[in-house]
Amino acid sequence: MSSKVATARTSRRSVAPALDRIICGDARTVLRQLPAESVHLAITSPPYNVGIAYSDYSDDRTYLEYREWLRGVWKALARVLRPGGRFALNVAPTSIKNFRPIHHDLTRDLIEVGFLLRTEILWYKQTMGRRTAWGSWKSPANPHVIPSWEYVLVFSKGSWRLEGDRAEIDITGPEFQRYSDGFWEIAPERNRRGHPAPFPDELIRRLIKFYCYRGNVVLDMFGGTGTVAAVARATGRHYLSIDTSREYCELARERVAAARAEGTGPRIPAPDRVEIAPGLVRRRRVRTGHRTE
Ligand SMILES: C[S@@+](CC[C@H](N)C(=O)[O-])C[C@H]1O[C@@H](n2cnc3c(N)ncnc32)[C@H](O)[C@@H]1O
Repeated sequence: MSSKVATARTSRRSVAPALDRIICGDARTVLRQLPAESVHLAITSPPYNVGIAYSDYSDDRTYLEYREWLRGVWKALARVLRPGGRFALNVAPTSIKNFRPIHHDLTRDLIEVGFLLRTEILWYKQTMGRRTAWGSWKSPANPHVIPSWEYVLVFSKGSWRLEGDRAEIDITGPEFQRYSDGFWEIAPERNRRGHPAPFPDELIRRLIKFYCYRGNVVLDMFGGTGTVAAVARATGRHYLSIDTSREYCELARERVAAARAEGTGPRIPAPDRVEIAPGLVRRRRVRTGHRTE
């Protein structure tokens, strides 16, 4: 861990965090208000900066601005993760036309911030049946490769090991064997609930069971419709979900409240309301195409 992150050891000053919250606010600002070293696992998928029409966010920064903005989020995240805490970052390859090695660039940025790179999981989405863009069909002139996968880049803070109570492990032998093969075939989420890019529950269930114990705290700072929070609650983990959009936060609250507890783990409370973080500035909704610097 770099000195920048290692110096964020403020556990003596930490207070028990208020848990099981859906917070409407800016990721970096809200992370700065959470207690240090209070989160065991963060799972997120940030906006990909490809002009997606989110309800409350303009997804069209220049590439350099985008990475700089995310670096601020990664630094704020490093402070709230526990030693040994994990960060699973889902990132999709960029479009064919403006291809950028975004997973390499974000990996490099996170290592520079001080995270340890654990692994890359390939999420194979099984979407090839629907493809239309072939480039030069049946010709080497200019053929296209369609990314039918996304990456899940997994990092640790400071230590490879995450200590926990063995009695709170809920992964089975067959699940462990399956998930430790890093090629995960999971179909994309069909029920989008009005959101352009929600996670499939299965992806999150695997990450949660593989990387943390029941009773741990799981965070998504770009929480959207609350998939991470809903699966965390269902699997007996505490949750924190942050998003700038009130619409998505309200969807998340409903989803988490409806999540059915699996197994015999701790019963995690449902959110009673969406919290509005102080200083939330609503941005104008902008629809754009892809923009380069
Ligand atoms: C790829 S989506 C996440 C979807 C989520 N994984 C789900 O399952 O619904 C990214 C989310 O980031 C939110 N967002 C954009 N800028 C943000 C910011 N500064 N702070 C927090 N959330 C933000 C968007 O509203 C969008 O819902």
